[in-house]
Amino acid sequence: MKEVIIGGVGKYIPSKKVTNNHLSEIVDTNDEWIFSRTGIKSRYISTGEDTSYMAAMACEKAIKEAKTSALDIDLIVLATCTPDMFTPSTACIVQSIIGAKNAVAFDISAACSGFIFALDLAKSLMKMHNYKHALVVGAENLSKFIDWQDRSTCVLFGDGAGAVVLSRSESSGLGNSFCKSDGDKWSCITIEGSDIDSPFVDSKTIRESKLKMNGNEVFKFATSTIVKSINKMLEENNLSLEDIDYIVPHQANIRIIEYAAKKLKLPIEKFYTNIHEHGNTSAASIPMALSDMYEEGLLKEGNKIILVGFGAGLTYGATIINWSI
Ligand code: UT7
Repeated sequence: MKEVIIGGVGKYIPSKKVTNNHLSEIVDTNDEWIFSRTGIKSRYISTGEDTSYMAAMACEKAIKEAKTSALDIDLIVLATCTPDMFTPSTACIVQSIIGAKNAVAFDISAACSGFIFALDLAKSLMKMHNYKHALVVGAENLSKFIDWQDRSTCVLFGDGAGAVVLSRSESSGLGNSFCKSDGDKWSCITIEGSDIDSPFVDSKTIRESKLKMNGNEVFKFATSTIVKSINKMLEENNLSLEDIDYIVPHQANIRIIEYAAKKLKLPIEKFYTNIHEHGNTSAASIPMALSDMYEEGLLKEGNKIILVGFGAGLTYGATIINWSI
């Protein structure tokens, strides 16, 4: 079997829903500002669930949907910028929780583009090593790295996880994809990590452990790359926009999506959005959106869907899929 399809999809969201009005009790903000500038109404915040736990719950759902078993999983690629720990990888903890004893498991770090990068990598590894089933996961616990005093970032993000099972098939599900990085812009979004306090370093280096973002710079990058990425996918596949059933973009800001719709002269309905409910869940946003679309019955066999991600790094990428379940 030469090709790779999505055989199952699942998501997990924490039970704690935090509305814009809740946030206005913590920082100087209000529902009107948040909704009009971002399209966000609420987000779900971990009350103790780790990234690994949320990822494992999403994986179990996807495995069930794919009618396979954890023991049949050969590979777990987990995209996150908020791992449980620096080491081991969150993917290894997920492997243990779900009992995927036969898998090789590791994390990748490409922030909000992570799921696109992980899909691309998993597809290549499956073909190279003849793996039958893989889990590709996007999972984030951003709330633990948010500066809850910084109104310019704390209103934007949410927690959650989404996962897909990839399976080998004769028919083509995952089409071509591309991943790109612009490392010169690495400082636009950072979570620096822990302080350096070593006897071999003259003075202690203080690191900023909370998320920092140059929102305006990232906004400009996002609006140009989303359009560029969609056009690249169409060109490479000899398709026009009429051939595409849905575009599933990273859910960062509804204004970025509206910009893309206007630029491409597409009705906004072609873009799936759930940002009003979940906020920006970084690497989890695209698989969570796929899971919501599946649950809402929007996805039909044969649908052509473009997934497009962009975020810290700066990174961006896209892929095209023929829906197959
Ligand atoms: O997922 C990774 C990729 N990330 C993105 O794609 C994010 C891209 N960037 C964005 O979505 C937008 O730039 C933001 C939503 C982050 C910011 O929106 P903006 O329209 O660019 O607002 P701004 O940063 O220019 O701020 C405008 C004003 C400022 O006040 P002054 O200086 O004009 O008086 C801010 O202090 O809004 C103020 N402000 C707020 N006011 C109420 C900033 N945050 C808030 C807030 N509530 N939460």
